[in-house]
Amino acid sequence: MQKNTITLTNNNTGETYEYNILEATRGPSVVDIRTFFKDTGMFTFDPGYTSTASCESKITFIDGGKGELRYRSFPIEDLATEHTYLETCFLLLNSRLPTKEELTDFDLEIRHRAFLHEGLRHLFNAFPDNAHPMATLSASVTALATFYNDHLDMEHEEEYLEMAHRIISKIPTIAAFAYRHSIGTPFIQPDIDLGFTENFLTMMRAYPGGKMHLSPNGHDKIKEVEIRAMDTIFTLHADHEQNASTTVVRNVASTGAHPYVAISSGISALWGRAHGGANESVIAQLEYIGSVENVEAFIKRAKDPNDNFRLMGFGHRVYKNFDPRAKILKGLQDELKAELNLDSELMAIASKIEEIALNDEYFVSRKLYPNIDFYSGVILTALQIPKSMFTPIFVIGRTVGWITQWIEFKQDKTSKIARPRQLYTGD
Ligand code: SDX
Repeated sequence: MQKNTITLTNNNTGETYEYNILEATRGPSVVDIRTFFKDTGMFTFDPGYTSTASCESKITFIDGGKGELRYRSFPIEDLATEHTYLETCFLLLNSRLPTKEELTDFDLEIRHRAFLHEGLRHLFNAFPDNAHPMATLSASVTALATFYNDHLDMEHEEEYLEMAHRIISKIPTIAAFAYRHSIGTPFIQPDIDLGFTENFLTMMRAYPGGKMHLSPNGHDKIKEVEIRAMDTIFTLHADHEQNASTTVVRNVASTGAHPYVAISSGISALWGRAHGGANESVIAQLEYIGSVENVEAFIKRAKDPNDNFRLMGFGHRVYKNFDPRAKILKGLQDELKAELNLDSELMAIASKIEEIALNDEYFVSRKLYPNIDFYSGVILTALQIPKSMFTPIFVIGRTVGWITQWIEFKQDKTSKIARPRQLYTGD
């Protein structure tokens, strides 16, 4: 009779060990090796966790081969085109889309909570004006932990959802204040009459008093198409299974530290250019390449094993096909070309890179495709977002994913403190 197990034989000793296979509802099954060290006296070895499932989760599903992404089983293509970012936040936190009334209440609560404690505003004065907004964001979110206690009763849904709604609503304000501080202009307070995404763009771009740029026909309001583009970018970044920064958030959750320092740890991890920092590096790289004529030379460098130059925005640990989010952003770019002044030179360089890389054996054999970061920068630039704010935008989108994963970890009665072992090769 078929047994859903795997048997391992130690060929040195002839001993055999049997482990259960746990079936997934979608995607790869796992081999349950929780007793492996007790059974064998040995550790498994998997730096970077290329073949390791760190947890069981019901939140987000990715199929790297098909280029598929689902939040709570909803395809990203539907959420990005048919729903708002706030609806996606509600879906991730509650495992279902909101009713009209629930969305109205949720929207109102997020608007109310967008304001920061006055004490937190003064924190920004401590930072030099050339501080990278990611450093300011991480420090400010840690400081947020001093204003709210963390004795959360995970059996009490209202308590932990309030903690989640608070951080989701305050992150855009902190990010916008970090930017305004970096350019030495007065902060624009959240405006309770504006929705989540319009409010963020206003806090970023308005003049004191909330007026937009002066233009021949009076004050420029933020265009509907800009709000929709920004909202789509937030939705595309909302969650992504057990990526590096989410793994950090879960590890900090496992020690019992304050939820907001788990989020600030996620912000710090996301900053790296191998992860969320790639979106800023992509634009810097396109600007550095400078023209379509120079692309070939840089592709050559990216392929050279002795040159640590990498094509930013290319490759992914999971997607061995087009990143579905990249596809949606590419479509959005084409759509916005007419309505927003997208930087056609940068887009031409990006298209040239894509054209060459997608047909070059080095990239094809390694299944290196454009990822979400490859396209987001051109659109963000058109939305008058400076490069230094690209990764903070990623943080705004991803905070709901991090806090949802934090809640799932805390509600998992089998969860344990993260404490991997090592292969010791010292003296
Ligand atoms: C994000 O995990 C997530 O889900 C992350 C994310 C999310 O939503 O949370 O999707 C967001 O972080 C997207 C990825 C953004 N990062 C970049 O665009 C930076 C450039 N990409 C690479 O650094 C790299 O592709 C990673 C970090 C994304 C993935 O690294 P892996 O899976 O560890 O792959 P690897 O480093 O082992 O590379 C495999 C091979 C190597 O060549 P060989 O040693 O086999 O000869 O591919 C090469 C690498 O040198 N390679 C690249 C490359 N990426 C991988 N070569 C040139 N340019 C690249 N970008």
